[in-house]
Amino acid sequence: MAFREYKIGARMFGISLASSMFITLVMPTLDIRAVGATDIALDKQLAAGRETGFNLDDPLMMGRNKPLKVLLRNDPKTNTPLDTPRYVYVFNAGTSFPSGILHPVTLGADQAQLSETQGNISLASKAAGAVFAISHGTVNGHELPYIENLTATKGWTPADILLVAKDEDVSHVGAGKTMFVREGCWWCHTLLPEETQDWQVFGAPPALGDFNGESPTAFGSDRKAPDLLHVGSRNSSREWMMMHFFNPRLVQPHSIMPRFDYLWGDVDAKGNKIDFAKWRTEYLEYHDGKRVTPPDVPEYAKDSEIRYLIDFVLSLK
Ligand code: HEC
Repeated sequence: MAFREYKIGARMFGISLASSMFITLVMPTLDIRAVGATDIALDKQLAAGRETGFNLDDPLMMGRNKPLKVLLRNDPKTNTPLDTPRYVYVFNAGTSFPSGILHPVTLGADQAQLSETQGNISLASKAAGAVFAISHGTVNGHELPYIENLTATKGWTPADILLVAKDEDVSHVGAGKTMFVREGCWWCHTLLPEETQDWQVFGAPPALGDFNGESPTAFGSDRKAPDLLHVGSRNSSREWMMMHFFNPRLVQPHSIMPRFDYLWGDVDAKGNKIDFAKWRTEYLEYHDGKRVTPPDVPEYAKDSEIRYLIDFVLSLK
């Protein structure tokens, strides 16, 4: 008799496992096709690339295999200034494309159609690299964003863009989001203001179509610190971010946020070795009132992990 109960239990378990899998895996994929991607979703996909969590192209989450978001001020063919600078997303040869390019159906039917017919995304080649932008078109009287493959429509290659772009106009948003996920910032911070008083403090909650193709979303769960979805609009100071990440107590004396000074790596912007032990000794002297000012925070090297992270945080507008 006991065996019969076991069989009933096993079946009940099977049914609940299968239905929860259906609800969590299958139903969202049906929904997402019905939701058109917004400008924000397209920007996130193109800036972050394929995936900013664990993935086989970047197993140690070092920010490899990521596109660059570039503020283009000059025409890459003639080097004359553009009337209005625009953002383009540079995928160097070999960089994996995001899901909206690999599976346009996830953009929503109209956005997918515009991206294919006007944006020529199916002509983009990972092996050769490509340059994308967000453009706008109309379907049935509605203005909608779509992905344009500028390598096909204008003949601009990744090398052309990087030749005319200054380093300060190049943003490592995708590598920075990988740092955000790897370092566990979402343990304390959310990227999801709610439709409550949150709105007044942290800005508008996201819209449904803002997440098409984003993986992972890094919503965070349990908030111990301010929401960061719009942090770049409240505070766009790179210098404040540098001080705050090197040691949050430099700008917020009672902050519980950990130091992220190790993201500077070994050397500063000039290639000199960073002496962390000396910095901490001097900082403690300042803390104990034996120095008037804290030691200076080192300038970070342009390919350091902290640069990537700050590029990402400041992109959260
Ligand atoms: C232990 C929890 C904790 C972790 C982990 C943490 N933070 Fe914070 N963070 C805080 C707290 C608390 C504050 C508010 C006090 C302050 O400014 O330091 C804060 C403030 C901030 C601010 C300023 C917010 C504003 O509204 O101006 C930014 C930006 C920020 N954190 C980014 C990050 C990033 C990026 C990471 C991951 C590399 C991270 N934090 C990890 C707790 C945390």
